[in-house]
Amino acid sequence: MTQLNDLLTRLWDDYVALNPHALQIHQLIESRGETIHNDHIALRTFGDKRIGMDVLGEKFVNLGYEPRGFYTFTEKHLYATHYEHADQSMPKVFVSELRLDVFGDTLRSIVAELVDQVPAELPRQWDLPATGRPWSISIEEYETLRGESEYAAWVAAFGFRANHFTVDVNALKTFADLPELNAFLKANGFALNTAGGEIKGSPDDYLEQSSTLAGEVEVEFADGKLTIPACYYEFARRYMMPSGKQFNGFVAKSADKIFQSTDRR
Ligand code: NI
Repeated sequence: MTQLNDLLTRLWDDYVALNPHALQIHQLIESRGETIHNDHIALRTFGDKRIGMDVLGEKFVNLGYEPRGFYTFTEKHLYATHYEHADQSMPKVFVSELRLDVFGDTLRSIVAELVDQVPAELPRQWDLPATGRPWSISIEEYETLRGESEYAAWVAAFGFRANHFTVDVNALKTFADLPELNAFLKANGFALNTAGGEIKGSPDDYLEQSSTLAGEVEVEFADGKLTIPACYYEFARRYMMPSGKQFNGFVAKSADKIFQSTDRR
């Protein structure tokens, strides 16, 4: 468990260093006497077998996680797997990958050139999910990728790190529901992602989620710096299924919209 805690701590420290707004929200909620429980962490990669979602997911399997759900996101051309730990107090892990087979030569050749730069031993490292960007990329390549897929551009610019952490709204005591939390965040000056409505999903889906808009950060490219959207903070409220168990999965049609939280505006 120590190694898992190390990995989660590194992911969190890196995430809040890159996204100060997430730490501000975390502290603002905890200043009400709350203790934030993390529902899930999301990671992104390219669907290249050398560094695909199974390679990232395996690092969590080695630390006690098991795959529990498989998802296809048609609009965004993604596959994803969610993992759960036997200890339910540990966050779920959601790993997605961009399907390269549905794109043309332009995107595929840039991605291949990036993945070719990954050191041979890196995919075998236990801490791969928190190692950051292992390749060099030019601004032009980044812009070209962005024209094809915002997701591809994000992975190319940021590499292996958490795309988002997620507040478990069920575990909050001072907010009755997600609309109340959203209102609180907006009253405190935080912008929410409104693509597809502020709240994605419904009690009928057993999952409601909202998220902030990603903050912008300056990223170093091979030939200069560019200010681009980094990560968002997510909020999830889960419902009981008719079986009496809480729904622990994900809803593809909602996530399709949530993925847009890192799109350039
Ligand atoms: Ni999420």
